Amino acid sequence: MTLIALCSLKGSPGVTTATLALAARWPAKQEPVVVECDPAGGDLLARFRLDMAPGLVSLAASARRSREEGMELLRQHTQLLPGGLPVVAGPPGAEQSRAALGELLHARASVLQTAARRPRTVIVADCGRIEPNSPTLPLVRAADALVLLARARDDALAHVAARIETVIRWSETACFLLVGDGYPTGEVADTLGLRIMGRIPDDPKGAGALCGRPARHSGPDRSALGRAMAKIAPRIALQARRKPAVLESSMVPLSNQQTFRASSDHGPMSGPINGAPQK
Ligand SMILES: Nc1ncnc2c1ncn2[C@@H]1O[C@H](COP(=O)(O)OP(=O)(O)OP(=O)(O)O)[C@@H](O)[C@H]1O
Ligand SMILES: [Mg+2]
Repeated sequence: MTLIALCSLKGSPGVTTATLALAARWPAKQEPVVVECDPAGGDLLARFRLDMAPGLVSLAASARRSREEGMELLRQHTQLLPGGLPVVAGPPGAEQSRAALGELLHARASVLQTAARRPRTVIVADCGRIEPNSPTLPLVRAADALVLLARARDDALAHVAARIETVIRWSETACFLLVGDGYPTGEVADTLGLRIMGRIPDDPKGAGALCGRPARHSGPDRSALGRAMAKIAPRIALQARRKPAVLESSMVPLSNQQTFRASSDHGPMSGPINGAPQK
């Protein structure tokens, strides 16, 4: 019933890592499926030594032909990570990835959207870095929650400040996760007017396990990163349930992006869009 899109605006703040952590710590009522939609190419295949197929490319090819129901189709193209998380791995190359995403996301009703409507299902999509011409924009716009990751440093936050108005136009559900040390969460929320869901610590061991380099007690059930995400995940789930009805009703005709957001005229953000900033 839920589609969550994670992405960055600049740099590599840990989107792929956070996507797996969020899926691993998603509240128990829904079953997560991770879909690697990074237009720059995927990392899961190499990090976890997965097979080349099935994955995003085979899903895109099948979605063109198959009449099967979204979730059934999606499941056929997953592989399991150690620990059992089902993932649709993206191809390593940008060209292949963009081609697959183009096919998958510009279909009239994307298989990902129809799969995400299924009860008890959450699709957690790693959308990589988003740009105005990104092939993942339809997904970003349709997501029940758009989660942007950023480090809380001057350079990263300058990019956030420069692009926040555009992001809000893409999705009213946009919210942020801060990564690592830097400015205090409340200060970032107040200064930039961001809805901040929480903060992920710098945790090389915990992140390593989510990149296919497990060490003792480093899994998302034990690591500092996993424990932080366990607190953040219910907030994101709540945020996703609050998706405005106007967006909900416009999910299907993805091929017609002009009408997808009837009004993008939200103007500059007037004060914080955040709920309670999380320290
Ligand atoms: N919270 C964290 N603490 C420490 N290291 C991290 C954390 N998150 C990610 N990393 C490390 O940073 C590197 C990049 O992480 P990841 O691939 O998740 O970033 P990304 O934003 O998806 O990058 P890209 O834009 O290249 O896809 C990896 O080596 C990962 O282990
Ligand atoms: Mg990534």
